[in-house]
Amino acid sequence: MSDDVVISKKNAGYYAADLVKDGMIIGLGTGSTVFYAMERLSVRIKEEGLNIKGVPTSFQTAMRARDYGIPLTTLDDYPKLDLAIDGADQIDPNLCMIKGRGAAQTRERCVAQAAEKFVVVADEGKLCDVLSAVVPVELIPFSFGLVVERLKELSGNPKVREGVKKDGPVITDNGCIEIDCDFGEIKDAKALQMEINNIPGVLSCGLFTEFGEKTVVVVGKTDGVKTL
Ligand code: 5RP
Repeated sequence: MSDDVVISKKNAGYYAADLVKDGMIIGLGTGSTVFYAMERLSVRIKEEGLNIKGVPTSFQTAMRARDYGIPLTTLDDYPKLDLAIDGADQIDPNLCMIKGRGAAQTRERCVAQAAEKFVVVADEGKLCDVLSAVVPVELIPFSFGLVVERLKELSGNPKVREGVKKDGPVITDNGCIEIDCDFGEIKDAKALQMEINNIPGVLSCGLFTEFGEKTVVVVGKTDGVKTL
């Protein structure tokens, strides 16, 4: 990651963290840009006495939140959230996006759904005219063969995501398998999202097309941010 991207992610994360108000219950997404937001939240908790609770979308985020002194809670205790902060891998002009490089898209979708406002933090490199990035799909192991077959029928060229040691599939925090699909340029992201999410055994794919109305995208740049 270049220095410019690091600075841009940090600017986006810090800006989003400053949107959080005292008493809010917030969703905490997964990924390097969200971690900058959490870094800034930890400073606000210490310096301003900011009183918040966060619902983490992954084990990794929960660990980071504990390091940062951000109190955690659950969707069981708070099924309605004031705001969720999360990252994205690609964002189109309609604020449809692809998420899930951290294999956390299922919980990220739950938290985005629960939140009144969805604040997406990203660097400028994530913006595109047409979505074309790899689409992650989380599925229960029982349904593996069926899901792979259906994804092939959708021309998704499915590949099981492997861990760094290449010794087996990535197992998600939900005990499931993550598959990456390449659909090339995606003409109708909404329709594709529905087709994939309707395959029996799929928990959730990384296409997020339903949150446009409550979404604010904070695009980090080297000299500040712009919002979409
Ligand atoms: C994880 C995600 C991330 O938010 C997305 O991959 C962006 O990550 P980063 O901020 O590290 O670029 O969807 O499942």
